[in-house]
Amino acid sequence: MQMIKIRSSEITPEHVYRARRKFMKGIGALAFGSVASAVLTACGGLGQDDLGRFAAMQPETPTEGDAQQPSAGQTADELGDALTSFEAITTYNNFYEFSMNKEAVARLARDFTLSPWTVTVGGLVNNPKTYDIDDLRKRFPQQERIYRLRCVEGWSMVIPWLGFPLGALLREVDPQSGAKYVRFETVMRPQEMPGQRDPYFPWPYVEGLRLDEAMHDLTILSTGLYGKQLLPQNGAPVRLVVPWKYGFKSIKSIVKIDLVAEQPTSLWMASAPHEYGFYANVNPDVPHPRWSQATERRIGELGRRPTLKFNGYEEEVAALYAGMDLRANY
Ligand code: MTE
Repeated sequence: MQMIKIRSSEITPEHVYRARRKFMKGIGALAFGSVASAVLTACGGLGQDDLGRFAAMQPETPTEGDAQQPSAGQTADELGDALTSFEAITTYNNFYEFSMNKEAVARLARDFTLSPWTVTVGGLVNNPKTYDIDDLRKRFPQQERIYRLRCVEGWSMVIPWLGFPLGALLREVDPQSGAKYVRFETVMRPQEMPGQRDPYFPWPYVEGLRLDEAMHDLTILSTGLYGKQLLPQNGAPVRLVVPWKYGFKSIKSIVKIDLVAEQPTSLWMASAPHEYGFYANVNPDVPHPRWSQATERRIGELGRRPTLKFNGYEEEVAALYAGMDLRANY
């Protein structure tokens, strides 16, 4: 694997950076004006990747002595791509229960009640369980997993998660033979989550995986990032992370996990079935109906980079989809 190094010639002088930012802001305003009347269906509200305030930032790597260090001290993923900054990961969020404005989520979620919190695991299992969040953290040893997160809107990050394989929890509840899928549900708390008062979406947020996808070692339940417990905006106290799928599959603030016989209908499938399917595997060759998925913007970088099939995890997960038409099963 080749390491990507930042050449000093790529570090932008401040006046150029400022001018560029001003330019980007102008473009952002234009883009907003032209699509503001468009239908609000995409994950991201306005459809394709917006030009957020991180558009003009340079790649960042946490320095030594930084308060937010991944526990193992790594600064890049296995492809050599630098970690996205803690600041970007915690201030540029999709969490529609709070807001469709990515930069407003952190503020609106600040006082979100995280305790008490339980996760109920049931459905077609022999050993249904309700885990208190502290028990869950103790019961399953936390590991660090540095994963790329690719949003369907066309932006991506590299995040050092803390968590544990979902498979470990599923084995504990002992799925019955009729269990073919796993259905996840986010907490329903409209008094604390203003977005849930918006009747446009069929709340609560629901997502699903095929049982073999859920059992795959790359699939984790995350309770932290950068060596710390998750903040509300990132889906505290526990969220799913499925790194080879578009980010919307990685459901936040989970309270319920059910093993089921039929393919669950996710919130996005119910809201816009022609745009968001059940599988949502990252695939540069299958465009979203309204935009290409061939490239992406890595938050903290300028320009765009090619999108990798299965988000770069093809070797690990392609076998799950052997013989399947990835275009039909979008
Ligand atoms: N989970 C819930 N409950 N609500 C959401 O709006 N947004 C999804 C996903 N999980 C979302 C969610 C989308 S579109 C993305 S890209 C990721 O969360 C973003 O995760 P992050 O904010 O931690 O980067």
